Amino acid sequence: MNARTDIADRLLRWFEDHGRRDLPWQHPRSGYRVWVSEIMLQQTQVATVIDYFNAFMARFPDIHTLAEAPADDVMRHWAGLGYYARARNLHAAAKQVVAEHGGELPADVDALMTLPGIGRSTAGAIRAQAFDAWAPILDGNAKRVLARYHGVDGAPGEAAFEKALWALAERETPHERVADYTQAIMDLGATLCTRRNPDCPACPLSDDCVAYRQGRQHEIPAARRRKRRPLRHTRMLVLQRGPDEILFQRRPPAGIWGGLWALPEVPAERDPETWCRDALGLAPDAVRELEPLRHGFTHFELEIRPLHMQVEDAAGIMDADDCAWHDRNAPPGVPAPIARLIRRLPETP
Ligand code: ADE
Repeated sequence: MNARTDIADRLLRWFEDHGRRDLPWQHPRSGYRVWVSEIMLQQTQVATVIDYFNAFMARFPDIHTLAEAPADDVMRHWAGLGYYARARNLHAAAKQVVAEHGGELPADVDALMTLPGIGRSTAGAIRAQAFDAWAPILDGNAKRVLARYHGVDGAPGEAAFEKALWALAERETPHERVADYTQAIMDLGATLCTRRNPDCPACPLSDDCVAYRQGRQHEIPAARRRKRRPLRHTRMLVLQRGPDEILFQRRPPAGIWGGLWALPEVPAERDPETWCRDALGLAPDAVRELEPLRHGFTHFELEIRPLHMQVEDAAGIMDADDCAWHDRNAPPGVPAPIARLIRRLPETP
């Protein structure tokens, strides 16, 4: 391992021609913009994030606007991105930065890590990219690149593996051009040193990459040991009025999709038709079971069983704060699995 040379020079040279240098949060760069982008990118790919980022910046151009915005509005701009705790943390962190730092995002890793939603790697990425100041990062991409290059055995999540890689991340991070280096190692991991299909012949590090030399690039890093997630079931109502309108309901603030618009959920012990009458004042004509769909959450998997009900006399329900009819082709901002469910509804029966 000690025969290896530094990887920074080669990564930076590769970055000139192949790195991502026209991402919206790079122009202009600011602590606020880099921070929002890094939170969006935590569980989501660049291609998906770009439109959300631009819309978010148009609505919340600075940290004061974000801190003062109603929670509802922040959630609406996150709808579809998933992992909604990120949005709640972002909003809480904005308020904290305004209260404690006069609205200036701190540049220090420890100070950044006191903010909700910012772990060590995200703090490093913000410091490096927004302030071009030295800090190591170790997101999933950097972890894969370093583990392969140095031939580190083990799986993400294991203490010894994480510790060894943080030490390597510190050693490899250069003291100049930190922002570019940080982007370069993430880009290499996202585009060449991918998990399933690494393009080693095109990689600037393959000459002395341990995994490549040993033909073990598909084995390193080992798969994270996942706990089996329990499967939960729920029934959701697709209440249709006339040919196109569907009833949406706002989720209660606690629990999954807290505060977002989704479909009414029938409590587990209730008969759907009776519940529909009692809770919503609607008397459905016919009930049809639609194809179930599954969605993975961090700690469980959810099987949604949609029940389609046609209602003609919808006098019992008016548009209200937490209930609204929308055209099926123009739903409000909803979580991705609900959008998928609506998209695959059969044409009007
Ligand atoms: N993942 C996390 N941060 C990223 C970034 N700045 N560019 C590409 N992928 C990322």
